[in-house]
Amino acid sequence: MAFKHWPLVRDARFSLKIGRYLRGARKRRPDLDWDEFRRVARRFTLDDMGSFPERGFLYQLAADAPRDAQVVEIGSWVGASTCFLAAGLKGPAAKIHAVDNFQGLSQCGEDVAAYQKQFRKLGTQSTLDLFRGNFAALGLTGRAEAVVSDSRAAAQSLAARRGAIDLIFIDGDHSYEGCQADIEAWLPFLRPGGVAAFHDFGSRATGVTQAIFETIKAGRFAEIVGVAGTIIAFKV
Ligand SMILES: C[S@@+](CC[C@H](N)C(=O)[O-])C[C@H]1O[C@@H](n2cnc3c(N)ncnc32)[C@H](O)[C@@H]1O
Repeated sequence: MAFKHWPLVRDARFSLKIGRYLRGARKRRPDLDWDEFRRVARRFTLDDMGSFPERGFLYQLAADAPRDAQVVEIGSWVGASTCFLAAGLKGPAAKIHAVDNFQGLSQCGEDVAAYQKQFRKLGTQSTLDLFRGNFAALGLTGRAEAVVSDSRAAAQSLAARRGAIDLIFIDGDHSYEGCQADIEAWLPFLRPGGVAAFHDFGSRATGVTQAIFETIKAGRFAEIVGVAGTIIAFKV
């Protein structure tokens, strides 16, 4: 086991890094409950799918959404981003529809190879139980519903919610074609003034960046909400 993964070393690194992040976050947004953010982050110390600034931005977007907000996430994996969103939500009827095939299936070959490696490490072929376990451990189960499906098929099965979603986070298929198809399928779900957030903008997933650029150029976003790491969010 690498030195940085020894439990004591890992805990010390976590405390140092999150302490540094939270000092700034508390100054920027003193109105948010950053102890709750820390509680969720503690659950995901081994998470390598997002940085604290990215996780904090998702938490903030959810907290800024209306009470009882309806959220869609495309690409949940073991539910780390989903839990940060869920923790930020307010109101007993707030809910995230977490869409994922939970099998690491994607048109992006590079991703599939990376997911298969993770599955071998985890000793499973699905992240659904891990997703559910993380929500249960954090007491957030009521705030999310796993939609076990291909993203575009889910857009059909959830069609009744078109125009009624407050926040969408897209972090599914990282190929150009996949991201573009997700944008086409899911932007119509947002209500006017709703927020679309994307992971991997400006990352090595160049297809994602291209698909988002084209959507900006087509004038489909009304204004930019913010950027943190490789997450970018817009109002429609
Ligand atoms: C990078 S991971 C998501 C990470 C998660 N958002 C986080 O930050 O913790 C991408 C996920 O998208 C899912 N995915 C990729 N293409 C998909 C598709 N067409 N339909 C449904 N899920 C898809 C994969 O199974 C994988 O779990």
